[in-house]
Amino acid sequence: MAKKNLISVLDMKDEWPDLVELSVKLKAERGNHGAPLKGKTLAMMFEKPSTRTRISFDVAMTELGGHALYIDIPSMQMGHGETVEDTAKVMSRFVHAIMYRAFDYKIMDKVGDSATIPVISGLDNLEHPCQALADMLTVKEKKGSFRGRKLVYLGDGNNVCNSLLYASAIVGLDMVACCPATRMPNAEIMLNASRIADANGSSISASHNPLEACKDADILYTDTWVSMGDETPVEKAVKIFQMYQINDDLLALAKPDCIVMHCLPAHRGQEITAEVMDGPQSVVFDQAENRLHAQKAVLYTLLR
Ligand code: CP
Ligand code: NVA
Repeated sequence: MAKKNLISVLDMKDEWPDLVELSVKLKAERGNHGAPLKGKTLAMMFEKPSTRTRISFDVAMTELGGHALYIDIPSMQMGHGETVEDTAKVMSRFVHAIMYRAFDYKIMDKVGDSATIPVISGLDNLEHPCQALADMLTVKEKKGSFRGRKLVYLGDGNNVCNSLLYASAIVGLDMVACCPATRMPNAEIMLNASRIADANGSSISASHNPLEACKDADILYTDTWVSMGDETPVEKAVKIFQMYQINDDLLALAKPDCIVMHCLPAHRGQEITAEVMDGPQSVVFDQAENRLHAQKAVLYTLLR
Protein backbone atom coordinates (compact mmCIF):
# COMPACT_ATOMS: atom_id res chain seq x y z
CA MET A 1 0.00 0.00 0.00
CA ALA A 2 1.06 3.64 -0.37
CA LYS A 3 2.88 5.15 2.60
CA LYS A 4 0.52 5.64 5.50
CA ASN A 5 1.16 6.89 9.02
CA LEU A 6 -0.54 6.02 12.31
CA ILE A 7 -0.10 9.25 14.26
CA SER A 8 -3.76 9.82 15.02
CA VAL A 9 -6.32 7.02 15.24
CA LEU A 10 -8.04 8.89 12.40
CA ASP A 11 -5.11 8.17 10.07
CA MET A 12 -6.37 4.58 9.97
CA LYS A 13 -10.06 5.20 10.62
CA ASP A 14 -11.17 3.11 7.64
CA GLU A 15 -8.81 0.26 8.50
CA TRP A 16 -9.53 0.36 12.25
CA PRO A 17 -12.21 -2.38 12.45
CA ASP A 18 -9.98 -4.66 10.35
CA LEU A 19 -7.01 -3.88 12.61
CA VAL A 20 -9.05 -5.02 15.62
CA GLU A 21 -10.01 -8.26 13.85
CA LEU A 22 -6.42 -8.85 12.70
CA SER A 23 -5.20 -8.32 16.28
CA VAL A 24 -7.58 -11.05 17.47
CA LYS A 25 -6.31 -13.38 14.74
CA LEU A 26 -2.63 -12.67 15.37
CA LYS A 27 -3.10 -13.22 19.09
CA ALA A 28 -4.62 -16.64 18.40
CA GLU A 29 -1.82 -17.46 15.96
CA ARG A 30 1.09 -16.37 18.14
CA GLY A 31 4.11 -18.56 17.39
CA ASN A 32 2.80 -19.51 13.93
CA HIS A 33 3.12 -16.33 11.92
CA GLY A 34 5.86 -17.46 9.57
CA ALA A 35 8.06 -14.48 8.73
CA PRO A 36 5.88 -11.97 6.85
CA LEU A 37 8.23 -9.06 7.71
CA LYS A 38 11.47 -10.87 6.87
CA GLY A 39 14.15 -8.33 5.91
CA LYS A 40 12.16 -5.38 7.31
CA THR A 41 13.55 -3.06 9.99
CA LEU A 42 11.59 -0.81 12.35
CA ALA A 43 13.45 2.13 13.92
CA MET A 44 12.06 2.90 17.38
CA MET A 45 12.88 6.47 18.43
CA PHE A 46 12.15 7.66 21.95
CA GLU A 47 12.21 11.18 23.39
CA LYS A 48 10.92 9.85 26.72
CA PRO A 49 10.82 6.60 28.71
CA SER A 50 8.83 3.48 27.85
CA THR A 51 8.43 -0.10 28.99
CA ARG A 52 5.42 -1.51 27.13
CA THR A 53 5.73 0.36 23.84
CA ARG A 54 9.44 -0.27 23.45
CA ILE A 55 9.39 -3.94 24.32
CA SER A 56 6.15 -4.90 22.60
CA PHE A 57 7.21 -3.30 19.30
CA ASP A 58 10.60 -5.01 19.50
CA VAL A 59 9.07 -8.42 20.21
CA ALA A 60 6.38 -7.87 17.55
CA MET A 61 9.02 -7.28 14.88
CA THR A 62 11.01 -10.33 15.98
CA GLU A 63 7.94 -12.58 15.98
CA LEU A 64 6.94 -11.36 12.49
CA GLY A 65 10.41 -12.20 11.17
CA GLY A 66 11.72 -8.62 11.06
CA HIS A 67 14.09 -6.55 13.16
CA ALA A 68 13.72 -3.57 15.50
CA LEU A 69 16.32 -0.93 16.24
CA TYR A 70 16.04 0.97 19.54
CA ILE A 71 17.25 4.55 19.29
CA ASP A 72 17.60 6.89 22.21
CA ILE A 73 17.21 10.31 20.54
CA PRO A 74 19.75 12.22 22.70
CA SER A 75 22.42 9.87 21.34
CA MET A 76 21.60 10.78 17.71
CA GLN A 77 22.81 13.85 15.82
CA MET A 78 19.22 15.04 16.11
CA GLY A 79 19.86 15.48 19.79
CA HIS A 80 22.74 17.77 18.83
CA GLY A 81 21.23 20.04 16.20
CA GLU A 82 20.43 18.00 13.07
CA THR A 83 16.88 18.80 12.02
CA VAL A 84 13.96 16.47 12.55
CA GLU A 85 13.17 16.69 8.83
CA ASP A 86 16.69 15.70 7.71
CA THR A 87 16.76 12.89 10.25
CA ALA A 88 13.43 11.50 9.03
CA LYS A 89 14.59 11.64 5.40
CA VAL A 90 17.86 9.85 6.20
CA MET A 91 16.11 7.22 8.30
CA SER A 92 13.79 6.58 5.37
CA ARG A 93 16.81 5.41 3.32
CA PHE A 94 17.79 2.82 5.94
CA VAL A 95 14.68 1.35 7.53
CA HIS A 96 11.13 0.43 6.51
CA ALA A 97 9.15 2.21 9.25
CA ILE A 98 9.67 4.52 12.21
CA MET A 99 7.98 4.24 15.57
CA TYR A 100 8.38 7.59 17.33
CA ARG A 101 7.53 8.71 20.90
CA ALA A 102 7.42 12.51 21.15
CA PHE A 103 6.74 15.12 23.76
CA ASP A 104 5.12 17.40 21.20
CA TYR A 105 2.69 16.30 18.48
CA LYS A 106 4.12 19.02 16.20
CA ILE A 107 7.45 17.16 16.13
CA MET A 108 5.58 13.91 15.51
CA ASP A 109 3.85 15.53 12.54
CA LYS A 110 7.19 16.75 11.19
CA VAL A 111 8.54 13.21 11.33
CA GLY A 112 5.37 11.91 9.69
CA ASP A 113 5.47 14.49 6.90
CA SER A 114 9.23 14.24 6.20
CA ALA A 115 9.66 10.46 6.26
CA THR A 116 8.90 8.60 3.07
CA ILE A 117 8.16 5.45 5.07
CA PRO A 118 5.27 4.79 7.53
CA VAL A 119 5.53 6.60 10.86
CA ILE A 120 3.74 5.04 13.83
CA SER A 121 3.16 7.05 16.97
CA GLY A 122 4.35 5.49 20.18
CA LEU A 123 2.57 8.38 21.98
CA ASP A 124 2.73 12.15 21.92
CA ASN A 125 1.00 14.77 24.02
CA LEU A 126 -2.16 14.55 21.91
CA GLU A 127 -2.73 10.84 21.18
CA HIS A 128 -1.66 7.26 21.83
CA PRO A 129 -3.21 5.31 18.94
CA CYS A 130 -1.47 1.96 19.50
CA GLN A 131 -2.70 1.93 23.09
CA ALA A 132 -6.24 2.56 21.85
CA LEU A 133 -6.01 -0.36 19.42
CA ALA A 134 -4.82 -2.70 22.17
CA ASP A 135 -7.69 -1.39 24.31
CA MET A 136 -10.25 -2.22 21.63
CA LEU A 137 -8.78 -5.73 21.36
CA THR A 138 -9.10 -6.05 25.13
CA VAL A 139 -12.75 -4.93 25.17
CA LYS A 140 -13.53 -7.25 22.26
CA GLU A 141 -12.05 -10.28 23.99
CA LYS A 142 -13.52 -9.52 27.42
CA LYS A 143 -16.98 -8.33 26.31
CA GLY A 144 -17.42 -10.03 22.93
CA SER A 145 -18.84 -6.94 21.23
CA PHE A 146 -18.82 -3.14 21.29
CA ARG A 147 -22.40 -2.07 20.55
CA GLY A 148 -24.37 -0.86 23.54
CA ARG A 149 -21.38 -1.10 25.90
CA LYS A 150 -20.56 1.86 28.10
CA LEU A 151 -16.91 2.83 28.66
CA VAL A 152 -16.27 5.49 31.29
CA TYR A 153 -12.83 7.13 31.26
CA LEU A 154 -12.04 8.80 34.59
CA GLY A 155 -9.40 11.41 35.36
CA ASP A 156 -7.14 13.44 33.10
CA GLY A 157 -8.42 14.14 29.57
CA ASN A 158 -5.00 13.28 28.15
CA ASN A 159 -3.47 11.58 25.09
CA VAL A 160 -4.82 8.16 26.10
CA CYS A 161 -8.31 9.59 26.58
CA ASN A 162 -8.19 11.42 23.23
CA SER A 163 -7.30 8.29 21.26
CA LEU A 164 -9.88 6.27 23.18
CA LEU A 165 -12.54 8.78 22.11
CA TYR A 166 -11.73 8.21 18.45
CA ALA A 167 -11.37 4.44 18.81
CA SER A 168 -14.64 4.11 20.75
CA ALA A 169 -16.55 6.23 18.25
CA ILE A 170 -15.24 4.15 15.33
CA VAL A 171 -16.09 0.74 16.81
CA GLY A 172 -19.43 1.84 18.30
CA LEU A 173 -18.72 1.91 22.04
CA ASP A 174 -20.62 4.51 24.10
CA MET A 175 -17.89 6.51 25.84
CA VAL A 176 -18.13 9.03 28.65
CA ALA A 177 -15.10 11.22 29.33
CA CYS A 178 -15.51 11.94 33.02
CA CYS A 179 -12.89 14.58 33.84
CA PRO A 180 -12.60 17.81 35.83
CA ALA A 181 -13.74 20.86 33.87
CA THR A 182 -10.16 22.13 33.72
CA ARG A 183 -8.77 18.83 32.42
CA MET A 184 -11.20 17.80 29.69
CA PRO A 185 -9.98 16.01 26.55
CA ASN A 186 -8.96 18.03 23.49
CA ALA A 187 -12.08 19.94 22.35
CA GLU A 188 -11.57 19.33 18.64
CA ILE A 189 -11.06 15.59 19.17
CA MET A 190 -14.17 15.44 21.37
CA LEU A 191 -16.18 17.14 18.61
CA ASN A 192 -14.80 14.96 15.81
CA ALA A 193 -15.35 11.81 17.85
CA SER A 194 -18.94 12.85 18.63
CA ARG A 195 -19.61 13.31 14.92
CA ILE A 196 -18.19 9.87 14.12
CA ALA A 197 -20.27 8.33 16.91
CA ASP A 198 -23.44 10.11 15.75
CA ALA A 199 -22.98 8.74 12.25
CA ASN A 200 -22.37 5.34 13.77
CA GLY A 201 -25.31 5.13 16.18
CA SER A 202 -23.14 5.30 19.30
CA SER A 203 -22.40 8.16 21.69
CA ILE A 204 -19.55 10.27 23.02
CA SER A 205 -20.33 12.41 26.03
CA ALA A 206 -18.65 14.40 28.78
CA SER A 207 -19.27 14.43 32.52
CA HIS A 208 -17.71 15.98 35.59
CA ASN A 209 -19.62 13.71 37.96
CA PRO A 210 -18.14 10.23 38.50
CA LEU A 211 -21.05 9.13 40.70
CA GLU A 212 -23.43 9.69 37.79
CA ALA A 213 -21.09 8.60 35.00
CA CYS A 214 -20.10 5.22 36.48
CA LYS A 215 -23.68 3.98 36.77
CA ASP A 216 -24.17 0.82 34.72
CA ALA A 217 -20.72 1.05 33.14
CA ASP A 218 -19.31 -2.01 31.36
CA ILE A 219 -15.77 -0.67 31.44
CA LEU A 220 -14.04 1.78 33.79
CA TYR A 221 -10.75 3.15 32.47
CA THR A 222 -8.16 5.44 34.00
CA ASP A 223 -4.62 6.70 33.45
CA THR A 224 -2.01 8.61 35.39
CA TRP A 225 -2.98 12.04 36.71
CA VAL A 226 0.41 13.47 35.65
CA SER A 227 1.53 12.49 32.17
CA MET A 228 5.13 12.64 30.98
CA GLY A 229 5.91 16.26 30.19
CA ASP A 230 3.07 17.59 32.38
CA GLU A 231 4.58 19.80 35.05
CA THR A 232 1.61 19.73 37.43
CA PRO A 233 2.98 18.86 40.90
CA VAL A 234 1.63 15.54 42.18
CA GLU A 235 0.13 17.17 45.31
CA LYS A 236 -1.86 19.54 43.10
CA ALA A 237 -2.98 16.72 40.79
CA VAL A 238 -4.21 14.73 43.79
CA LYS A 239 -6.46 17.65 44.74
CA ILE A 240 -7.76 18.12 41.18
CA PHE A 241 -8.48 14.46 40.49
CA GLN A 242 -9.18 12.81 43.87
CA MET A 243 -12.91 12.29 43.27
CA TYR A 244 -12.12 10.57 39.95
CA GLN A 245 -10.06 7.78 41.58
CA ILE A 246 -11.27 4.28 40.63
CA ASN A 247 -11.98 2.66 43.97
CA ASP A 248 -14.43 0.10 45.35
CA ASP A 249 -17.14 2.76 45.80
CA LEU A 250 -17.10 3.85 42.16
CA LEU A 251 -16.77 0.29 40.94
CA ALA A 252 -19.88 -0.68 42.94
CA LEU A 253 -21.92 1.75 40.80
CA ALA A 254 -20.96 -0.03 37.59
CA LYS A 255 -22.40 -3.30 36.26
CA PRO A 256 -21.38 -6.33 38.34
CA ASP A 257 -19.32 -7.67 35.44
CA CYS A 258 -17.65 -4.32 34.74
CA ILE A 259 -13.97 -4.60 33.81
CA VAL A 260 -11.31 -2.12 34.91
CA MET A 261 -8.64 -0.92 32.47
CA HIS A 262 -5.48 1.17 32.78
CA CYS A 263 -2.85 1.72 30.08
CA LEU A 264 -0.07 1.55 32.74
CA PRO A 265 2.19 2.61 34.34
CA ALA A 266 -0.19 2.90 37.31
CA HIS A 267 0.07 4.80 40.58
CA ARG A 268 -1.74 2.79 43.23
CA GLY A 269 -3.43 5.09 45.72
CA GLN A 270 -3.77 7.88 43.14
CA GLU A 271 -5.85 7.24 40.01
CA ILE A 272 -6.68 3.69 41.12
CA THR A 273 -6.63 1.91 44.47
CA ALA A 274 -4.47 -1.17 44.96
CA GLU A 275 -7.64 -3.15 45.78
CA VAL A 276 -9.18 -2.43 42.39
CA MET A 277 -5.94 -2.59 40.39
CA ASP A 278 -5.10 -6.01 41.82
CA GLY A 279 -8.71 -7.15 42.18
CA PRO A 280 -10.79 -9.62 40.16
CA GLN A 281 -12.33 -7.05 37.80
CA SER A 282 -8.99 -5.62 36.69
CA VAL A 283 -7.79 -6.69 33.22
CA VAL A 284 -4.75 -4.41 33.11
CA PHE A 285 -2.12 -7.07 32.47
CA ASP A 286 -4.08 -8.71 29.64
CA GLN A 287 -4.48 -5.18 28.30
CA ALA A 288 -0.71 -4.65 28.48
CA GLU A 289 -0.07 -7.95 26.68
CA ASN A 290 -2.46 -6.87 23.96
CA ARG A 291 -0.10 -4.08 22.94
CA LEU A 292 1.99 -6.82 21.33
CA HIS A 293 -0.86 -8.33 19.32
CA ALA A 294 -2.35 -4.99 18.29
CA GLN A 295 0.99 -3.60 17.12
CA LYS A 296 1.66 -6.73 15.10
CA ALA A 297 -1.58 -5.95 13.27
CA VAL A 298 -0.40 -2.38 12.62
CA LEU A 299 3.06 -3.48 11.45
CA TYR A 300 1.65 -6.23 9.26
CA THR A 301 -0.82 -3.82 7.65
CA LEU A 302 1.65 -0.99 7.06
CA LEU A 303 4.78 -2.94 6.17
CA ARG A 304 3.70 -5.86 4.04
N1 CP B 1 1.13 2.24 28.08
C1 CP B 1 2.35 2.61 27.62
O1 CP B 1 2.48 3.18 26.52
O2 CP B 1 3.38 2.26 28.42
P1 CP B 1 4.93 2.63 28.24
O3 CP B 1 5.09 4.09 28.58
O4 CP B 1 5.63 1.74 29.21
O5 CP B 1 5.32 2.38 26.81
N1 NVA C 1 -0.79 9.60 29.65
C1 NVA C 1 0.44 8.93 29.94
C2 NVA C 1 0.49 7.62 29.24
C3 NVA C 1 1.72 6.81 29.48
C4 NVA C 1 1.75 5.55 28.71
C5 NVA C 1 1.62 9.81 29.56
O1 NVA C 1 1.58 10.45 28.51
O2 NVA C 1 2.58 9.87 30.32
